[in-house]
Amino acid sequence: MAGGGFATATANGVEFEAKITPIVIISCIMAATGGLMFGYDVGVSGGVTSMPDFLKKFFPVVHRKVEAGADKNSNYCKYDNQGLQLFTSSLYLAGLTATFFASYTTRTLGRRPTMLIAGVFFIIGVVLNAAAQDLAMLIAGRILLGCGVGFANQAVPLFLSEIAPTKIRGGLNILFQLNVTIGILFANLVNYGTAKIKGGWGWRLSLGLAGVPALLLTVGALLVTETPNSLVERGRLDEGKAVLRRIRGTDNVEPEFADLLEASRLAKEIFQQCTGINAIMFYAPVLFSTLGFGNDAALYSAVVTGAVNVLSTVVSIYSVDKVGRRVLLLEAGVQMFFSQVVIAIILGIKVTDHSQNLSKGFAILVVVMICTYVAAFAWSWGPLGWLIPSETFPLETRSAGQSVTVCVNLLFTFIIAQAFLSMLCHFKFGIFIFFSAWVLVMSFFVMFLLPETKNIPIEEMTERVWKKHWFWARFMDDHHDDQVFASGHVNGKKSNGKSNGFDPSTRL
Ligand code: BGC
Repeated sequence: MAGGGFATATANGVEFEAKITPIVIISCIMAATGGLMFGYDVGVSGGVTSMPDFLKKFFPVVHRKVEAGADKNSNYCKYDNQGLQLFTSSLYLAGLTATFFASYTTRTLGRRPTMLIAGVFFIIGVVLNAAAQDLAMLIAGRILLGCGVGFANQAVPLFLSEIAPTKIRGGLNILFQLNVTIGILFANLVNYGTAKIKGGWGWRLSLGLAGVPALLLTVGALLVTETPNSLVERGRLDEGKAVLRRIRGTDNVEPEFADLLEASRLAKEIFQQCTGINAIMFYAPVLFSTLGFGNDAALYSAVVTGAVNVLSTVVSIYSVDKVGRRVLLLEAGVQMFFSQVVIAIILGIKVTDHSQNLSKGFAILVVVMICTYVAAFAWSWGPLGWLIPSETFPLETRSAGQSVTVCVNLLFTFIIAQAFLSMLCHFKFGIFIFFSAWVLVMSFFVMFLLPETKNIPIEEMTERVWKKHWFWARFMDDHHDDQVFASGHVNGKKSNGKSNGFDPSTRL
């Protein structure tokens, strides 16, 4: 077996043997392109909506308002238009609807066909968007892309955590988020370049280049193997075991085979969207242009925040298992709160309804503060919004939990996408106070209610964390555990009587 050392995971004294095989690595790279596609969709819309040619063609009303300048319209309300917001938000509305179907296909057809369905949706959506002649075609394209996101975000994270050896599963979870941030940065860079195209078709190139990650995901889905979990789930036990041997590079897969169904656990946290991150990710160029930045500077600044987002996600990969989840979330809470309040103060004083452009010094300070905020999000709620729920869902509720949390996350994403520009118009600089208040609430939640899950094996989570927690312990149902553990096995290991809330062997 070429490549990779042994990665062994210990749980209750039993080790799973697993080489980090090329097939695992290639599969994960392929599947992570799902993250790239999602990120590209998040990042591309804001830049495109700040391009005059795009506005002129699809949103002439907004174009006229922007051209008229601050004398005629409030700085804060230039982009306040339901149709324009629908261009961004329709994707997430379609996405959250699609998660219901995706949850079904993930379970019954498998992870691989679901990723393939996502890829096909993406490709058709990209073609409609790049070739759009009118608003209907544009929105139809966004809706298809949204369906792609719904299917991909359900299947890809499950695929990643099921195919990855236990020891590097945490890192691979964050690989998905890293790809999301790379996708956003890629979109920001593309927008910066295409905005300079004279012929009025730069936005078509921006929307069309989403075809690159879309194709990668589709080809990837054709090449990768189905996960052993999914095969077992659909009763194809022998095939499941054979695949497990192949991807682990060893014949000794019995302990892990028994642990199969415990592997898939990824979901997003609801709170994540209340940080206001997508106000920045979707609308950074529009926001910067609201502050009086020229078109080029606005797009350039979005590239800078995109780069900070990627680099800070790497910080998280390195520190999450060392300093723990709580430290990252609490530190980031302080940093996000502070930077949002500073931004609100600068805007409150310097950007009034009809003021002219921010002076250079203040403009730079705003960009620095936005970067400070994005960095904090990127090493805390960004990746941990994926990781923490994935560590806490027990098997019985995992599939449902996955789709409910993805769905709720997309619902909140939709609300922010649809409402932010109107909120900016009405709340003005206060929008940042609004989000900072949420950050405060979230940080108190972390401080008092979120237990540390660093270095706790998943199967011991209920016993060692939840049942000992001052608040959550009262919701832990011992009776239910006793029933589920009637067979006396925990993940293929003889149970010591302590339960983790489920027993895969009762399912096989
Ligand atoms: C969120 C996205 C967000 C991105 C920013 C993700 O974890 O789910 O909504 O745009 O992070 O990096």
